[in-house]
Amino acid sequence: MPQPRPMLQKYLIADLPKADALLPFLRRIDETRWHTNFGPLATEFEHKMRDLLAAVDPYPDFGAIRLTTISTCHHALAVGLRMLHVPQGGKVLVPAVTFPSCPLAVQEAGGEAILGDVDPDTWTLTPQTARSIAEKNKLSAVMPVAIYGVPLPIEAWDEFQRDTGIPVIIDAAAAIERQIIPQLALVAHSLHATKPFGAGEGGFLVSRSQDIIDRVRIYSNFGTLDRISVFDGSNTKMSEYHAAVGVAQFERWQAIKQKRHEQLSLYKKHLEPLASSLSLQPGLDQAVTSALMLRLNKPVAAEVIAAGPTVAIAFHKMYLPPLYRHPYFANLSVANQKGYVIARNAPLETKAAHMPHSETMFVHIVGVPFHPFLEEEDIGYVTTSLQRLLAA
Ligand SMILES: Cc1ncc(COP(=O)(O)O)c(C=O)c1O
Repeated sequence: MPQPRPMLQKYLIADLPKADALLPFLRRIDETRWHTNFGPLATEFEHKMRDLLAAVDPYPDFGAIRLTTISTCHHALAVGLRMLHVPQGGKVLVPAVTFPSCPLAVQEAGGEAILGDVDPDTWTLTPQTARSIAEKNKLSAVMPVAIYGVPLPIEAWDEFQRDTGIPVIIDAAAAIERQIIPQLALVAHSLHATKPFGAGEGGFLVSRSQDIIDRVRIYSNFGTLDRISVFDGSNTKMSEYHAAVGVAQFERWQAIKQKRHEQLSLYKKHLEPLASSLSLQPGLDQAVTSALMLRLNKPVAAEVIAAGPTVAIAFHKMYLPPLYRHPYFANLSVANQKGYVIARNAPLETKAAHMPHSETMFVHIVGVPFHPFLEEEDIGYVTTSLQRLLAA
């Protein structure tokens, strides 16, 4: 057994401000005695984030960027869908390869998820696939995913919404600042501890529509305005404590991006000898790397992951297997790139045969540890171990 390298035992490690950096912000809570309900820290976080997104906005003519904090990205997705008026039982298309949050958010909003096959080049649902599925099926909304933090092309998704009238909410959980804000589609982001811009827990919803953001805010606070219930609601507010971490994180954001960029460059260098055996996620350079996933030329992802303990490396399969292979989602219908749907109650083998690209991801894609605490030696050890495992 090799000597375990502690930093390779986990594939993600949160990179949050330390207690000393948080203290000045926590003291502000002591001073204001404002602990939640859109207090000064949540407001400051929203302003700072809006400025950050506006600074990289190539389309200011689309209208000002608006956003509101929410307790989690999961709730941003669920509440966002409610704002899009998904009817009870309405079908919402989500990719088959994503975090369980996507179909669960659809369920929470009263809809029913359809799992769409992913594209082999981009590893996620494309507007073309969504169009094919929408031509043959009545969809109430689509939830494309910026998979592993790689941002989505907004023109094509806005065009989809304009042409079909079907609203779009982009799950850009790990793509803060990298996902350009569309003209029409909503965008949900995560501040979960392990995301590049972490705040422990938290999220926010972004839109160019002030009306939608106003309604999300009311919904988040029990559907009340001045203590009067004006519509349906829940409690999905972000506390001042989480906002304090979020505000402190702005001071570290440049360094976080720089570090993740360096880690990716080191991985690229050490993966060069494996160029004939694997490839990196397409579009990765557009992301602030969140999780590093490799596409193996041979369908041996499960074998590599199973061999992880023998080399003391936490290889992983984030977002895999495809959701229709999870017991809880086995009863969802699936749709292929041509738009044909296999009904909810079909056997797993029938669904799997209908979803060739999601199945390919399942057997070819493996994740390697990626976080700011890896030394070059750790990265070198991961890549040489992988090389040995692939040769075996
Ligand atoms: C793609 C995706 N969507 C949604 C979520 C949910 O985010 P949160 O943990 O902030 O609710 C995650 C979290 O990891 C995610 O990876």
